[in-house]
Amino acid sequence: MVDVHKHDIIIVGGGAAGLRAAIAAVEADPQVSVALVSKVYPMRSHTVSAEGGAAAVARPDDSLEMHGYDTVKGSDFLGDQDVIEYFVEEAPKELTRLEHWGCPWSRNDDGSVATRAFGGMTTKRTWYASDKVGFHMLHSLFQHSMQFDRIVRYDERFVTQLLIEDDGIKGVSALDVRTGNIEVFQARAVILATGGGGKIFPFTTNGNIKTGDGMALAYRNGVPLKDMEFVQYHPTGLPGTGILITEATRGEGGHLINSEGERFLVAYDYGVGNKAELGPRDMISRAIIQEIEAGRGLPGTYGEYVHLDLRHLGEDKIMKRLPFVRELATTYVGVDPVTTPIPIRPVVHYMMGGVDTDIDGLTRVGGLFAAGETACVSLNGANRLGSNSLTECLVFGARAGQRAVALSKETSDGNDVALRKRGFEEQERIDTLRGKKKGGEKLSHVRREMTTSMERGCGVYRTQDTMDATVQEIAQLKGRFADIALQDDSRVFNTEIIAALELGNMLDVAEAVANSAAYRKESRGAHTRRDHPTRDDQNYLHHTLVHFDPAGPRIDTSQVRLGHWEPEERKY
Ligand code: FUM
Repeated sequence: MVDVHKHDIIIVGGGAAGLRAAIAAVEADPQVSVALVSKVYPMRSHTVSAEGGAAAVARPDDSLEMHGYDTVKGSDFLGDQDVIEYFVEEAPKELTRLEHWGCPWSRNDDGSVATRAFGGMTTKRTWYASDKVGFHMLHSLFQHSMQFDRIVRYDERFVTQLLIEDDGIKGVSALDVRTGNIEVFQARAVILATGGGGKIFPFTTNGNIKTGDGMALAYRNGVPLKDMEFVQYHPTGLPGTGILITEATRGEGGHLINSEGERFLVAYDYGVGNKAELGPRDMISRAIIQEIEAGRGLPGTYGEYVHLDLRHLGEDKIMKRLPFVRELATTYVGVDPVTTPIPIRPVVHYMMGGVDTDIDGLTRVGGLFAAGETACVSLNGANRLGSNSLTECLVFGARAGQRAVALSKETSDGNDVALRKRGFEEQERIDTLRGKKKGGEKLSHVRREMTTSMERGCGVYRTQDTMDATVQEIAQLKGRFADIALQDDSRVFNTEIIAALELGNMLDVAEAVANSAAYRKESRGAHTRRDHPTRDDQNYLHHTLVHFDPAGPRIDTSQVRLGHWEPEERKY
């Protein structure tokens, strides 16, 4: 027996992009019915852990042109400029709308919205709610979504397959984690909004749920992943856990200090050399690694680190603007930033790449959309500016939701019998995998070797040899994954089978990252090669597309849509 749920639109993922898409869909049409299918309860989505803020023009000294240019330059000229222009225009409208839905943006004394500085932005344009921005944004979206009966939530459902017929997507199958049963969800449009896949690396700010599920589902079903080589290292993660210490610390005036007590970024040359702690993330992460390699790091249990010094901000400012940072540093590394510098080191934070979509979030499979970090709509190019991504979830989540409604009206339903049959087959597959004792491989071993290999080959600095080795290792691990043994054959909340399905997804995402990285023989944004240290617009001013093939991935390219901002040397 397979339960079947019928809706017009399915949204996979209950974070900022998914919730915003759901609201946009039901607001676009009073009849439309939306299934919000999420592997966790929506308030546990990774959006909740965002800290520093969301970018949009708010001040009289700012302009859409400036936000657009900063984003293009931040992307190292790989962002699509029509996408960027649409984004900066919609950004203030979305953040204002969110306030109307309850988001408590911090205010200036005169009552205007307060904005803070963030790296690579020429002026203060990051809106914030203290340093718990993700929590407040997600809460506002979740609360607002609850007024619509037509958004039907299916929490703790893990999507296992996309159900595609000749003319496009017709639904998904999902494992109900509470029962172990497969269910079929039918619809005429599906939006993937499952976040990124930072967990393919060992040291990341990403929560355990960020296993690249939406990316892998699309990849295995004929949609290429775009620009996957561009993985963002955030400069300031807590050693050991990888917990994010927000860039807002630097926006509020914090300094990075090496073992000699020097504020080393002042001396770093980003071209013009005056941004120091407010440079972009790719450049600051490289500077920290260079300090450590030059012997000016501090030794620690989890490798060398440098210090983030907030002491000069004073307790009042820290408690007003950065209370969560104080709580995190005190709890996880036993350091009170009011009196002591915080140990930090670069940490995997975000994937600029993702599911190849057009500006509507539509993929090349009819009716299949992606939004948020899952998608590569080509806003961020080779390096995202901090605080653009929360806004991206709203702007492009909304656009995908609206477009999905329009498209669902032009499409026919899938074949009931065929879809139900797919559900039965999927139940059989899962039942066979669950508690599959035969097999020579352990989940934990394959997973650990994958993360270690990814860090070695696709870290802050890369070379052809190390990337090629990772390509080989990931291919071998995929082979070994097929021989995995599982211990737990229970049906209710069987977290082992979820971990196995997630690992399958992560291996596909890791394959896409490593192969795309090995292909690009230049340095651009977050993709920094010691053997090709400069940008090469002549040969590489294009997007990378990686296509799934059981015999091994295939790479091709697509054009960057340039506009009135001409590529130039990227200096700060
Ligand atoms: O540092 C931060 O608060 C992160 C923000 C972002 O990634 O956009």
